[in-house]
Amino acid sequence: MADVRTLPDAEVAPDAPPSPTHVTIRREDYTPPDWLVPEIALKFTLELDKTKVQSKLTVRRNPTSATANAVLRLNGDELKPVGIWVDGTPSEAWEMDGDDLLVTLAGDAHEVAIETEINPSANSKLMGLYASNDMLCTQCEAEGFRRITFFPDRPDVLSKYRVRMEADEARFPILLTNGNPVATGKLDGGRHWAEWEDPFPKPSYLFALVAGDLKPNRDSFTTMSGRKVDLAIWVREADLAKTGHAMESLKAAMAWDEKVYGREYDLDLFNIVAVSDFNMGAMENKGLNIFNSAYVLADTDTATDVDFDNIARVVAHEYFHNWSGDRVTCLDWFQLSLKEGFTVFRDQSFSADTGSPAVKRIEDVRSLRSFQFPEDSGPLAHPVRPDSYMEISNFYTATVYNKGAELIRMMHTVLGPEKFRAGTDLYFQRHDGQAATCDDFVKALEDGSGVDLSAFKIWYSQAGTPLVDARVSYDPGSGTATMELEQRVKPTPGQPEKAPMPIPLKTALIGEKSGAEIAPERLVLLDQPKQSVRFEGLSEAPLLSINRGFSAPVVMRAQRGPHDLERLAQSDTDPFARYEAMQDLAMNLLTAGARGEEVDPEPLIRAVRNTLDSNALDPAFKAEAILLPQEALIAERMDVVDSDAVHRSREHLRHALGSSLAAELKRAQASVMAGADRTPLAKGTRRLRSVALDLIAGGDPAEGVRLAKAQFDAADNMTDRQRSLAVLASLDGPEREEALAAFLDRFKDDALVVDKWFAIQAQSQRTDTPERVERLATHPLFSLTNPNRLRAVVSQFAMNHWAFNEESGRGYRFVSDMIMAADRLNPQIAARLVPAFGKWRRFEPKRSALMHEQLERIVGTAGLSRDTYEQASKSLG
Ligand code: BES
Ligand code: ZN
Repeated sequence: MADVRTLPDAEVAPDAPPSPTHVTIRREDYTPPDWLVPEIALKFTLELDKTKVQSKLTVRRNPTSATANAVLRLNGDELKPVGIWVDGTPSEAWEMDGDDLLVTLAGDAHEVAIETEINPSANSKLMGLYASNDMLCTQCEAEGFRRITFFPDRPDVLSKYRVRMEADEARFPILLTNGNPVATGKLDGGRHWAEWEDPFPKPSYLFALVAGDLKPNRDSFTTMSGRKVDLAIWVREADLAKTGHAMESLKAAMAWDEKVYGREYDLDLFNIVAVSDFNMGAMENKGLNIFNSAYVLADTDTATDVDFDNIARVVAHEYFHNWSGDRVTCLDWFQLSLKEGFTVFRDQSFSADTGSPAVKRIEDVRSLRSFQFPEDSGPLAHPVRPDSYMEISNFYTATVYNKGAELIRMMHTVLGPEKFRAGTDLYFQRHDGQAATCDDFVKALEDGSGVDLSAFKIWYSQAGTPLVDARVSYDPGSGTATMELEQRVKPTPGQPEKAPMPIPLKTALIGEKSGAEIAPERLVLLDQPKQSVRFEGLSEAPLLSINRGFSAPVVMRAQRGPHDLERLAQSDTDPFARYEAMQDLAMNLLTAGARGEEVDPEPLIRAVRNTLDSNALDPAFKAEAILLPQEALIAERMDVVDSDAVHRSREHLRHALGSSLAAELKRAQASVMAGADRTPLAKGTRRLRSVALDLIAGGDPAEGVRLAKAQFDAADNMTDRQRSLAVLASLDGPEREEALAAFLDRFKDDALVVDKWFAIQAQSQRTDTPERVERLATHPLFSLTNPNRLRAVVSQFAMNHWAFNEESGRGYRFVSDMIMAADRLNPQIAARLVPAFGKWRRFEPKRSALMHEQLERIVGTAGLSRDTYEQASKSLG
């Protein structure tokens, strides 16, 4: 059967046993589809445990395909055909090839009809059509459509969909799919039907269907050309009151995309549905976005400020995909960053424009450093546009998403907003209705702006975070300074040799005495291994302010001592650089402490005091600036990681700050804002309040307990409540268990808040945390099948650096037990837990061996999914 493939050639890795688990898909093997499917008509006879799917494909030989293949390959996954018809006649000219269905066709254009039967209730992978809380819903990206019906399930086959749904009306009063409703009707036996049509051709991964007893929050939006769009957010009746923020976010996102990108919504209807069991955050299905309820539902009492911000961000992200993803989609899954990196850049810009841009940038960089940098320096490192994969679900990574967004941000920085916009206008116009590539995107930016960006393409293909060294020397006699820059990228799997990359560095010089900008900001493009840059006309010694605004996603190693950093922390004119000076100051102390060196915390204490006392800084910025780097970030900077030493070092500094600045911190902690007030000032005040509380507890645990308990009891909002509970959860005394019990008792019926209850305990900084999470996994409210609940316990624990890396290996065993248990139900979710073990080579020998042992145990498990196998085997290296 090898000669009838229409999918990119699959290949068995040379030294692997010939198991379907080991098949590697390569980007270079792309071939256009042999057959196109301009139209598809689907009929669903819906039932929770037995749904009939009748599909009619209009197929046509692809004129641009190189081969004249008579065989139509339709992908399937755990499907059996009940019947197959070609041009209306039952056909025998088909066979199975593994999971795929091969139909032999005589001519160039046919109608192929297929019937399948599926069981949504038994679908624990939550891919394809599945049941959640008695409703039916779909998730098709990346390869879930093939679990519903046989189809060329690849993003470059675009079809017009016509869908008919039939179901019991009492159980499933609401029937939704993509596009617009065209007709509805009643059937015998209490059943009803609805027919919908989506006028925009789309790949199968954007198909969606929802059936259930849902209620809408309805609103409308009038587009810039004056068309009225009906909006609805569908939830269970009890949740209706929590949909207001998501609706406001949607309308804000629609207006923003018109204003900033000139992009208008294109259907008459836009639906969002919230579901409780969902593998991801949300999904951009055309006209019918499906969301994890965590990114829809919010009110002051149950959602934190971070939850509110995340909802706005995710709603905007999925909405923005209507253009960057749906109207222009991806040629193959290797181009995933074309839609995801770009859409993350768009949602980041949206959030920056609707809040504080400086604080938003700091948050985005912190998340890049916490998730993407470790990925890029570990065994799972891969380029933004990967070259191969076993399971595409494993490539929805921080690299594809966040580094992909940084790469677009760099091109935006180089072009400036107007030329960038000219480029995106051309991109959307040129590729509307097409499946495009990352190269197409860069080409459109170049053609639209008239600027050569070809050098930046290496960011798509070369993995690894560049390390940049910077050093400034000053000659007072001539008033000149010279900056020496050097870049290097360490080898990554499959890429032993690295080429220099173009690195745009926003740079300025700050006067050591005056604190003023003595050389104004300029954009330095570092594109050689070594480069030097001269600054003239200086009247005082300069301090280096570099990578301002984090203009390039690199590890910057600027040579600056504690005195310089303290000065910059006070006077740098770029807020990000100022934050960075504080972080560098703290990080230098923390890494020295972890190496067992004696450190002087005074410069940091003074800098934190200055920050707290400043009248010019807003509270959200202050909170970010004084927050000590997380233990995982400190560990990233160590040659050999000892997680106990890292923890001790951070605790030591936390104690020093908390005890030296008790008065200032208590003032910040006492500042109360009503929870319903979500202005940037109110959110920032609450954030600073909890950062201060955490430092106070570091200085004086008894005082920490007292203040945290008081904050918890008095809280009128989930932000103050959750953060005070998190502080209590790491301290001793009866208050901890009392508060945890009170919290659960009050919110036990609200799944999203119960998730917080589990997460707070999994994040707790206590020696008994590993034991506690083991017990949590046997709690009656724990669930292996609900992704949010599993993540609340296991992912949160795996990110708790000190507890997860507890030296007996108990934490490692727990997480790998959970991975193997989850793998049997939901491989995608299990595989996402594996990277927790990816750092095993960086640890001291004892922990290194214990982590390695768990990875080997996972890889050796019989019947392991392809998803988990790929992650675990690659992590072993
Ligand atoms: N297209 C993705 C959802 C998705 C990811 C589906 C992986 C299938 C497999 C969606 O647009 C997305 O990126 N969602 C993110 C949130 C977003 C704000 C970055 C998610 O689900 O985490
Ligand atoms: Zn996305």
